[in-house]
Amino acid sequence: MEELKQRIREDGVVLPGNVLKVNQFLNHQIDPDLLYRIGKEFVELFKDQKITKIVTVESSGIAPATMVGLNLHVPVVFARKKKSSTMNDNLYTADVFSYTKRVTNTISIDSKFLSADDHVLIIDDFLANGQAILGLIDICRQAQCTIVGAGVVIEKSFQEGASLIKEKGVHLESLARIASFAGDEVHFVGEEN
Ligand code: G4P
Ligand code: NA
Ligand code: NA
Repeated sequence: MEELKQRIREDGVVLPGNVLKVNQFLNHQIDPDLLYRIGKEFVELFKDQKITKIVTVESSGIAPATMVGLNLHVPVVFARKKKSSTMNDNLYTADVFSYTKRVTNTISIDSKFLSADDHVLIIDDFLANGQAILGLIDICRQAQCTIVGAGVVIEKSFQEGASLIKEKGVHLESLARIASFAGDEVHFVGEEN
């Protein structure tokens, strides 16, 4: 998505450790118009598929996921990272290890929000090592949903997440694919020099 890549070039900040900070439009302050168009782009990429539900994980996945749900008029469910006191025992759970933060979170979704009739599109903001999306795939499979695919806003293609998801047989679409960082510059896949 050219508009997204342009925005990353303009507002993205490359931090040590191959981390891209996009707090201007995605991870802290949110640009709703850009996010709305991101939602439409995912709808276009998966337009031939039946989708009954969008699934993501809190917190940064919620904004893009909601924009996809808004465009499709289907519910958006986000996995929680902490067990809420109002949640009962009927949960689907998966352990997600974050390499960046060096912690394991147990993510969970109340079983009443996913059923075997659901055709799920998984959406997230970043794809790095893929553990968050693998956890969501695990949860969808526990619920016996049909997984239509996974859509991520920014893929760091030099990390292993993309290939791990494809190995699970899940169709992956990423709107911006980063090949490498060079100093404060971002090189996208297909634009390396
Ligand atoms: P993984 O889910 O792909 O395995 O990611 P990883 O453990 O490596 O990353 C942990 C967290 O950092 C995830 O957010 C992920 O989205 C985010 N992340 C990974 N690489 C980058 C990056 O280059 N830039 C930014 N801004 N974020 C990155 P999280 O901690 O699960 O959640 P959230 O509460 O922030 O949504
Ligand atoms: Na995320
Ligand atoms: Na994040």
